[in-house]
Formats: sequence, C-alpha cells, structure tokens
Amino acid sequence: MAKPRATLGIDLHIEPAGPGLRRGLTDALREAVRTGRLAPGTRLPSSRSLAADLGIARNTVAESYADLVAEGWLTARQGSGTRVADRPVPPPPDRRSPHHREPGRAAHNLVPGTPDLASFPRAEWLKATRRALTAAPNDALGYGDPRGRIELRTALADYLSRARGVRADPDRVLVCPGFAHGLKLLAEVLHTRGLRTLAVESYGLDVHWNLVERAGLRTVPLPFDAHGTLPGALDSPRERAAEGSLSDDLAAARAVLLTPAHQFPMGVALHPARRAAVVDWARRTGGLILEDDYDGEFRYDRQPVGALQNLDPDHVVYLGTASKSLAPGLRLAWMVLPPSLGPDVMRHAGSSATGVLEQLTLAEFLTSGAYDRHVRAARLRYRRRRDDLVAALAEHAPDVRATGIAAGLHAVLQLPPGTEQPVVRAANWQGVAVHGLSRYRHPAAEAQPPDALVVGYGTPPDHAWTGTLDALCRALP
Ligand SMILES: Cc1ncc(COP(=O)(O)O)c(C=O)c1O
Repeated sequence: MAKPRATLGIDLHIEPAGPGLRRGLTDALREAVRTGRLAPGTRLPSSRSLAADLGIARNTVAESYADLVAEGWLTARQGSGTRVADRPVPPPPDRRSPHHREPGRAAHNLVPGTPDLASFPRAEWLKATRRALTAAPNDALGYGDPRGRIELRTALADYLSRARGVRADPDRVLVCPGFAHGLKLLAEVLHTRGLRTLAVESYGLDVHWNLVERAGLRTVPLPFDAHGTLPGALDSPRERAAEGSLSDDLAAARAVLLTPAHQFPMGVALHPARRAAVVDWARRTGGLILEDDYDGEFRYDRQPVGALQNLDPDHVVYLGTASKSLAPGLRLAWMVLPPSLGPDVMRHAGSSATGVLEQLTLAEFLTSGAYDRHVRAARLRYRRRRDDLVAALAEHAPDVRATGIAAGLHAVLQLPPGTEQPVVRAANWQGVAVHGLSRYRHPAAEAQPPDALVVGYGTPPDHAWTGTLDALCRALP
C-alpha cells in the first residue's frame, strides 16, 4: 500500500488499496467522491503532483482520472483541470434505496450561526492588539476583576448605549466567553433563587434549551404567530389554565428568554405592542426578561430596532456577543445586568473566562472606531449576499419565498408543503449543509412549523459564495 501523503494543490488524503495500483487508486478516488469526501466542483491535484505524492507513475494517475471521467465521477476540461463532477438532484426518497448513504462533509456551509470567518479583520485586530498590549498596565495580566477588564466594560457601555440604546453602566457589565456561557450562568443563579421554569420562544436553538434544562429549569415555549412571539400567555391566570397544561406552566414562569430584534431563526422583530406588553408583565410580576441581541448590529432596510432593555433596565438582562460581528472563536460576549441580579451573577461567575488580551483588544477596537468600521463594511457585504439570494430565488426557484430578511445573517426560505426533508437531502447531495426549520422548533411548541429552510448566508467565504448559491438553487423545487 502506498504511504498517504498530503498533495501540493489541495489536501487530499488517499490510500490506494487492493491489487493493481491503477485499480486501487481509481477505487479510492471513486469512494471519496461517492461518500462526498470530495465535493462536487473540487479541483483535483494534477496527475504529476498526485503521482509524486503517492510515489507512483504519472501515467497511472492519468489513467485512473480518465477512468473516472468516463464513469462520470470526474470532469476534465482544458484549462480548468480535473474536477469532481456535479451530481444531479437525487430522486425523491421513496424511490431511493433504504441503504442510501448521505454524502460526507459538505463543501458549502449554509448552517446559520457563523459569520464569514475569511473576512475577519485580521490586520486591524492585530494593530489593536499591539496598541492594547503596549498601553496595558502590568496588573492587567493578573487575575483581575471577575466582571472583566474595566477598559472593555467601559467601552461596551459606551458602544451599547450609542449603537443599541442600551442603558449601561460599566459596573453592571459582565464579560463572558459567549452568550451560551452567560445563559448558563443566569440559569444557575435563577435556579438557586427558586426559579423552576423559563419561558422561551417556540423557535430557537436546542443547545440553549438544553443548557437551561441542565441547570434545573424547565423550558416552556410561548406561542408564536406572524408578528413574532406572543408574550400574553405569561399572563394567563392560573385558575383558568388546565392543571399541567402549557399555559399553566407559562403562568408559573417568572423569567423569559427572547430574541426581540430578530427572532431566531424566524427573523421577525417582536411587534412593538408585544415589546411593551412583556415589559409590562415583568414590572407587574417582578419577572425577568433575558434579551438575546445576538445579531443586533445587522439590520439592512431601516434603523435597527433598539434594545428592549432600554424600556426597563431593572427587569431586563441584555446579552450580546461578538460571535456574529467578529468571530465565535474570540469567545467574547457580554451582559448588562439589572441591579437586583448583578451581585449574585457576578459572585457566581468567578473569574472571567475570556483572556485579557482579547478583552483589551476588543476595548481598543471599540474605542478606536475600528469596530464600527468593520460592522458597517460587514453589513454591506451581508446585505449584498442577501440581495443575491433573493435575486437567485426569483430566477431559479420562483415558488420559494425568503422571509425574515430585514436583518441578520440568515433567511428562512418558505417551501411548498411536504418538501422540507427532500429539499434538505437534495441540498446535501449538492454538497450543501443546510437545516430545515423543523430542527429549530421547541419540542413542546404548539404550532407546526411551515416547511422551510434556514439559510445562513453569512458563513461562506466570498470566493465560494456564488458556487454555494448555485448549488443551493439546484436543490430547490
Ligand atoms: C440565537 C443565538 N443567540 C446567541 C448566539 C451567540 O452564541 P455565542 O455567543 O454563545 O457564540 C447565537 C449564535 O449562533 C445564536 O444563534
């Protein structure tokens, strides 16, 4: 067996096995294409380069490529080399073998949650790091304040007040390594205060519900309609609600988790009357609102909806993150706590888990204006992608409508009834990783979700965007 080695052009790990080099190599390449390890459109190394890596004759590789071109697995074109062939949309599931295997790692990622990491502002970030480290006092490198560095808390308070209308005082800002981490902290503190139920939205992320449940709280979904979440159910009088019913559980909830600016993943902004109603509920009952402002920076068609926290900072915890605006790998997020909750959460937080260099760099990034510049440029780029998506749908899939597109880095594509799972599979077949909406529905939610795809158009790097969009369109009805 030849020793596996990295090739020059792309990382191609291939282990030709079995009798006969040509046959072994052909089988190994065919298997890599068939399982999706080599995605449609992938350019293979030249026969010279692969032959050199595998320590075999160039002709053997050329013949193996020619066999696979003849079989339709590869294409060879003058000037563009040898590539993995595009595959047709698979037949509907009932006509396929039950042993059909899905392709492996997808070439195109449209799963929401990650921004375009290729456009992370590396040069600006490096400059800010250098400036921040040069200016930092020695004690910045110590254990420090569990709330996070004062430079960052001050910069965040200014920025959030200016850009999101948050009423923030640096003393009530807590820096944490991600929204999820902040939510876990809050759930644990609320549990120690006797809370047993957290109302959530009908649609959201199961990782968030799961970590709340692991802290000992039940998550109970609020109803949802075209104007967003219906917080009125928090008020349903207990005596009118059937014992053990959803409305009974909701009436018992003293806290609610919401995405008011841009519901995740449906994309609607919480209706103004409902914003007022939920704040009114919190005031009357001493309830608490956890406001997840995960992509508050990205609104395209008009002024962003300001933070709900502004309406009542005593009853709202504001949570924000750099995971969408910069990169999740920085592990930088923040919350602004009401006075009644601040000391407990800060005590529970222990020492901050985000490195001081990242904190000081973000502080410098914010105060120097680099953050605003980056967000404005990113907003333009993502907006163009959103427009490309809408235009591609109009041209190639006129029966598919994009909703929730006024903001954020994802859109919901409304599909004809009964087609969600076949379309997800067809997309996978085209090398596109994408999720159906049903995956984001809370298991106890009353509403049945419409058939839809949640398309995270922010994720692909610029150079891959057109190819990703083409591959998605090939899978749409
Ligand atoms: C709804 C929602 N909230 C919050 C976040 C941010 O998560 P974190 O800060 O934990 O990376 C995300 C990221 O995908 C999200 O989709």
